[in-house]
Amino acid sequence: MASTDQGVTSPTRARITERTLRQDRWWLQPLTTFVVFSAFVVYATVRAFMGRDYYASPYLSPFYSPCLGDCVEGASDFGQPFAWWPLSAALIILIFPLGFRMTCYYYRKAYYRAFWLSPPACGVAEPHQSYSGESKLPLVLQNVHRYFWYAAVLVGLVLTFDVVLAFRPMPAEYAVGDGETSGIHMGLGTLLMILNVAFIWLYTLSCHSCRHIVGGRLRHFSQHPVRYRLWTWVSRLNTSHGKWAWYSLFSVAIVDLYIFLLATGTIQDVRFF
Ligand code: FES
Repeated sequence: MASTDQGVTSPTRARITERTLRQDRWWLQPLTTFVVFSAFVVYATVRAFMGRDYYASPYLSPFYSPCLGDCVEGASDFGQPFAWWPLSAALIILIFPLGFRMTCYYYRKAYYRAFWLSPPACGVAEPHQSYSGESKLPLVLQNVHRYFWYAAVLVGLVLTFDVVLAFRPMPAEYAVGDGETSGIHMGLGTLLMILNVAFIWLYTLSCHSCRHIVGGRLRHFSQHPVRYRLWTWVSRLNTSHGKWAWYSLFSVAIVDLYIFLLATGTIQDVRFF
């Protein structure tokens, strides 16, 4: 194999002919990531382009929130400034959560390994002959992550508002038994939305950029006790950032699927009170 200046064949790297000396099933994690991410991308793409069955009052799918396009009645709590938009309303806002996740430090590690095999795992040589890290286009654009974080906070606030609205009465078409016209509604959908928004906040607040925003660029923590306190909280959450990334990915899809099944009349909401 010819040596290059960079990558695993560079002259400064150890001369090992085997691709890896690891004996364990190192391929299991990138393979799992590949399968689960691919499944999520296919599901999310289909749902985002469908443009229907995203609202079963009082539940709004997180893929379509805030619903700013020509949305069904009751789904737009922030108006419809993009009512002229000819495609699915999800496509107006998905760039923000999508951009946030695509540029996330954890997801970058995961999909660089699973999709680019760069490298597929620790101690396993990548198939590429050269390596430029994230110093060139297009990967240098990953640096916009910190700006997506601000958008993600706004999205988190909107989804939290959706959870509050999910306690509104549910009409008969989606409910088991008679629908409600007044009072507080609590159904399985409400519970799923609460769990989802909790995972979304854990994921958003455990972000590496969040950690830097609250505690970075300080010379002396002793002079910034509030920021130090916040930084210690975020740092604690940050150790499980990968876990929150997975949990929130699943919870978003599950909430959307549940609302889809309600909206299409396939199931009815399980009502607790
Ligand atoms: Fe993962 Fe910021 S590092 S969301």
